[in-house]
Amino acid sequence: MTKIYDLTERDFISTISNSSQLSSGEFTWKTPSNIALVKYWGKKESQIPENTSISFTLDACFTMTTLKFVKKKNEKGDFEIYFEGKKKEDFKPKIATFFQRIEKYCPFLSEYDFVINSRNSFPHSSGIASSASGMSALALCVMSLEKALLIDQRSLSGAEVTRSKMTDDYFYKKASFLARLGSGSACRSIKGSIVVWGNHKEINDSSDLYGVEFSDEVHSNFKNFHDTILLVDEGEKQVSSTVGHQLMYNHPYAQERFNQAEENIVAVKEILKSGDLKAFTNLVESEALTLHAMMMTSNPYFILMKPNTLKIINKIWEFRKETNLNLCFTLDAGANVHLLYPENEKDQVNDFVVSELIQYCQNNHYICDRVGKGAKLIN
Ligand code: PMV
Repeated sequence: MTKIYDLTERDFISTISNSSQLSSGEFTWKTPSNIALVKYWGKKESQIPENTSISFTLDACFTMTTLKFVKKKNEKGDFEIYFEGKKKEDFKPKIATFFQRIEKYCPFLSEYDFVINSRNSFPHSSGIASSASGMSALALCVMSLEKALLIDQRSLSGAEVTRSKMTDDYFYKKASFLARLGSGSACRSIKGSIVVWGNHKEINDSSDLYGVEFSDEVHSNFKNFHDTILLVDEGEKQVSSTVGHQLMYNHPYAQERFNQAEENIVAVKEILKSGDLKAFTNLVESEALTLHAMMMTSNPYFILMKPNTLKIINKIWEFRKETNLNLCFTLDAGANVHLLYPENEKDQVNDFVVSELIQYCQNNHYICDRVGKGAKLIN
């Protein structure tokens, strides 16, 4: 895929006029979580990443969100949020911030009242970040509304004709752009199966503003790749990602880390092409440990791994030595361990997980996931 044009922030400001006839309706999207191979940790203003990141889109871990909209009767528009059927007042501030941030790009939102109904396929307090799948689902619902309004709009000026068609490319890029404003990594939860976020000279079409599907050659070794998530600590996150990203301001190793990530993007691109699973293991595990090293060497400092996280890591290393298989791990900003492995090793790895690793999971909980295809419109 070649770069045809760069979308800038201005291209995402909706030109829809305020006179829509659309009085009510609803959209439902199912969007997956994602797991980064090269991590995003550190951002500038407006959720612009300090470095490029790349992730596998997941499949079994997803959020399903319905956005109901009704034309506002009085001036003050509002929204309600339900999570797994229950009204959730404590979710409101985050969603309100999201609506405020995207208002400039979607001014039509102020014409409606909303009811948001959301549920996750994974337990809420599992230590799995739900902001990526949650924010991407909401962003896609908003984009479906924008698209419906565009179709509804009767008279179009000549200049708006191109945009009024709203290509799929524009739809998904703007959805990713909006999701980014909710939670950075959410912009990588729109498309599948591998997504890059951050402007990188070696990645076609890449941008700091939204995630793009990795369009280079991918070796069959990475088709159907598995991610078994070991739930070591099911509690709330010890450090929110907002606080976490701030730790990179004035961090003594920040610049080195950002440079390293840019180099790792070049390396992972080659690995994905060649199918070199040993090199993949080395890069992915090093990225995970670097992310945690950043947290341990910041001030304030944090250790987000638990004793069982380390036990699992050591077990994986022993297993690899004994079997020469290609099971490797990655970590998010928490204690849970993501086990990554190719399709043709799933039986041996599953036996190993059950016999050796589950004992280190809280309540023996783990989730079997794999690389998926991205978000899906349900209605
Ligand atoms: O999207 P945020 O702000 O929750 O940050 C997520 C950061 C990591 O999950 C630790 C890494 C990543 O790239 O997903």
